[in-house]
Amino acid sequence: MSDVVNVGILGKGTVGGAFRRLLNERAEMVEEVSGRRPRVSGVLGRKRGDFDRILARSELVVELIGGTDPALDYVTRALEAGRHVVTANKQLLAQHGPELVRAARKGGAQLRFEAAVAGAIPVIRVVQESLGAIPIEKVFGIVNGTTNYILTEMARSGLSYDDALAQAQALGYAEADPTEDVNGADAAAKMTIIARLAFGAPVKLDDVPFEGIEQVKPDDLAYAKELGLSLKLLGVAERVGEDAISVRVFPCFLYPGHPLSPIEGAFNAVMVEAPTITEITMSGPGAGGSETASAVLGDVVSVISGGSPLFEENARLRVARDVEMAFYLHLEVEDRPGVLAQIAEILGDNEVSVRSVVQRGTGDEAVLIMVMHPVVESRFEAALKKIAKLKFLRSPPRSIRVIEEEFN
Ligand SMILES: NC(=O)c1ccc[n+]([C@@H]2O[C@H](COP(=O)([O-])OP(=O)(O)OC[C@H]3O[C@@H](n4cnc5c(N)ncnc54)[C@H](OP(=O)(O)O)[C@@H]3O)[C@@H](O)[C@H]2O)c1
Repeated sequence: MSDVVNVGILGKGTVGGAFRRLLNERAEMVEEVSGRRPRVSGVLGRKRGDFDRILARSELVVELIGGTDPALDYVTRALEAGRHVVTANKQLLAQHGPELVRAARKGGAQLRFEAAVAGAIPVIRVVQESLGAIPIEKVFGIVNGTTNYILTEMARSGLSYDDALAQAQALGYAEADPTEDVNGADAAAKMTIIARLAFGAPVKLDDVPFEGIEQVKPDDLAYAKELGLSLKLLGVAERVGEDAISVRVFPCFLYPGHPLSPIEGAFNAVMVEAPTITEITMSGPGAGGSETASAVLGDVVSVISGGSPLFEENARLRVARDVEMAFYLHLEVEDRPGVLAQIAEILGDNEVSVRSVVQRGTGDEAVLIMVMHPVVESRFEAALKKIAKLKFLRSPPRSIRVIEEEFN
């Protein structure tokens, strides 16, 4: 084997540029750790470089273009041709993970994607390798820094959603088009990848329902503050019974004491629960050119040093849609007798049981804030649909999930 590893870099944007600089700076260190010195064999941009020439010259291809076209074609061809691939591309993995694994097997190549989930935090490595022999029960993730920044600022300074988003954009924490971040789609792609690894289950992006934070109001956060709750956009992947898992993304209240409750600003965090380890929480910067490039370089070192982790699939596990959750319900109502009784009747008919009720304000400002005990989500949704039709509501009902688990 040659002492030099030729590395082709596809993409020369934020991460591609930072990775190229880092690779040059750290080439010597990589050689010390792995025994082989990396050398850039070509760089591809929209108007620069030729993929086939780079492929022919490289032993390892680093894909930092993003999206699926042309990244899927390039990565598949590289793997089938026996070139190892390192990528930071969550969409590619979430949408085409199983096909890429097949291509890697066919070519006898490695596929690594640590930077696709939670930037600089080594979540993939921990879930795939460190916890490989431990049956994971549940993974909770704050895997989108933009939304965590917006929710933190709404809670801290009472900003509206729109003002907090504008602030995130001004500071570079949100893209000019933040749609995929704020509607939960970005987090859903990352949770698809995590769930596949954690459970070895054939989860597809379409299996992961997601909700975003666009409807969250300062009121919701003010209420949360009083109770010491924090609001997060949370990804959850968990075992449900013997033969199923559930993977979802939604805004959610966390009680103080939950390991993800103190994660603030543009940070990401992932918490893994398993019987033998109780829980492990990892947190750190979830994005940024140099942070992401360092995760990519870690993968490059792993590839050069050997090893071949690929996800195995456990077809016995199905993906469940309807699971139990607790809910917070915010109702702006007319202040008159019988209101609470009618709401309670609808909840009771749907077997939803109420944990607490508080009335705030009177007259035109009366608000009922209710917290439910955990209930199968479809029952709560059925009740909510009926409540939404009640004539005495002054605005549509708002609900947010609540996680009651506390850790000491
Ligand atoms: N930015 C982050 O903080 C971050 C964090 C985690 C993961 N990621 C992931 O890292 C990847 C790269 O993101 P980025 O922020 O670096 O994106 P970016 O700044 O937009 O860079 C994309 C690069 O890909 C090149 N490219 C686009 N279409 C191409 C095509 N058809 N053929 C050849 N090259 C093409 C562009 O070429 P030109 O330079 O010629 O335009 C550019 O150099 C994405 O998968 C992203 O999800 C990014």
